Amino acid sequence: MNDMSPIVAPKTDAKADAPAYAPGFGAYVATEAVPGALPQGQNSPQKVRFGLYAEQLSATAFTAPRHENRRSWLYRLRPTASHPPFRPCDPGLVRSGPFTEAEPSPNRLRWDPLPLPSEPRTFVEGLTTIAGNGDPAQGEGVAAHVYLATASMVDEVFFDADGELLIVPEQGGLRLVTEFGRLDVGPGWCATIPRGVRFRLELAGGPARGYVCENYGALFRLPELGPIGSNGLANPRDFETPLAAFEDVQRPTRVVQKFQGRLYETTLPASPLDVVAWHGNLAPYRYDLSRFNAIGTVSFDHPDPSIFTVLTSPSDTPGTANCDFVIFPPRWMVAEHTFRPPWFHRNVMSEFMGLVTGAYDAKAGGFAPGGMSLHNCMSGHGPDAASWRAATEAELTPHKIENTLAFMFESRWVFRPTRFALQTPALQADYDACWDGFPRAKI
Ligand SMILES: [Fe+2]
Repeated sequence: MNDMSPIVAPKTDAKADAPAYAPGFGAYVATEAVPGALPQGQNSPQKVRFGLYAEQLSATAFTAPRHENRRSWLYRLRPTASHPPFRPCDPGLVRSGPFTEAEPSPNRLRWDPLPLPSEPRTFVEGLTTIAGNGDPAQGEGVAAHVYLATASMVDEVFFDADGELLIVPEQGGLRLVTEFGRLDVGPGWCATIPRGVRFRLELAGGPARGYVCENYGALFRLPELGPIGSNGLANPRDFETPLAAFEDVQRPTRVVQKFQGRLYETTLPASPLDVVAWHGNLAPYRYDLSRFNAIGTVSFDHPDPSIFTVLTSPSDTPGTANCDFVIFPPRWMVAEHTFRPPWFHRNVMSEFMGLVTGAYDAKAGGFAPGGMSLHNCMSGHGPDAASWRAATEAELTPHKIENTLAFMFESRWVFRPTRFALQTPALQADYDACWDGFPRAKI
């Protein structure tokens, strides 16, 4: 095989075979779908084997400190640079920072699950922005979206130039076919697609619904563990990065990108998911949230909910995140002489919550899987009256909270809802009522 011999796509059906993964959060991966495709000893040979094109994808500045620096080298059938101009296209219900179309509300807000559409709609067509903050132009903030997908993307890929996408499925399995390889996820998992990475979202069965945190800020990373030590919470080994897998599909492919809040499209003559080999420490990854090592009290009270942080996007202020991704997984409650549910709370940070399955232990009802709530800066929140009453009267035996998975996108920036979010009938008019009926303390 000489250096410029034609490349032959693997014989396996890319849709039928199971994806392969490498373990480790932020792991340095070197992978090739065709033996010999990955250059050895250098990144940019004069002639890449098989005539592949070498391209670097940088998610951090060239000069970012080494421990922050994230980039990969891709070896592909065609250069990404070769494309016609992008034209604006219909954004549907996608909105972006700066969020100015509606005033932020000082009230607690909660939404019923948004219904799945009855007509075929892809991930991009069904992407619906609920709230957000910051501005992609400034590299700060996040957007909280819901996806409502009833059809796989076909001959179409999407990428987000405004931020990385943390996908949290609530219903339906997904196959994320990306430039770097393929990831299978479903409810109970999360997956992150880096800024700029092209992908196609295919349904693995029925309709799919879930949440997306679009992170305009610093890349998600594992939180510091402090006195917890060197193990615990989300362990690095349990994150999985896809190994190289490519397709050589010569059909017109629509490319949709989000750039500075707007959607644009162009058409390529072939699929851009044509990366035959890559190496680096920037890539999509997935994580099974049931692997989360939940840590809590074995005496009394419970730690702040930051103890459940899976990933964090730091801001310039230490300990004050642009966004924390926090989960409330199944766990034992053993605290003595303690009010066990999440306590009443006012927070400088703003809290956007969702529910993947089961019930959340601070609410007796009204917060359904697929639903959302928003508790912005300094809004009083906490258990509803029914949960409070039950918890204050409960016998404090060891108790396991099972079959539940709630999560929070918590941000130092106030979430501003979209106009859609304030006008949809899914917005609950009576959310405040769940805090009615508390008896006055007897003093
Ligand atoms: Fe809170």
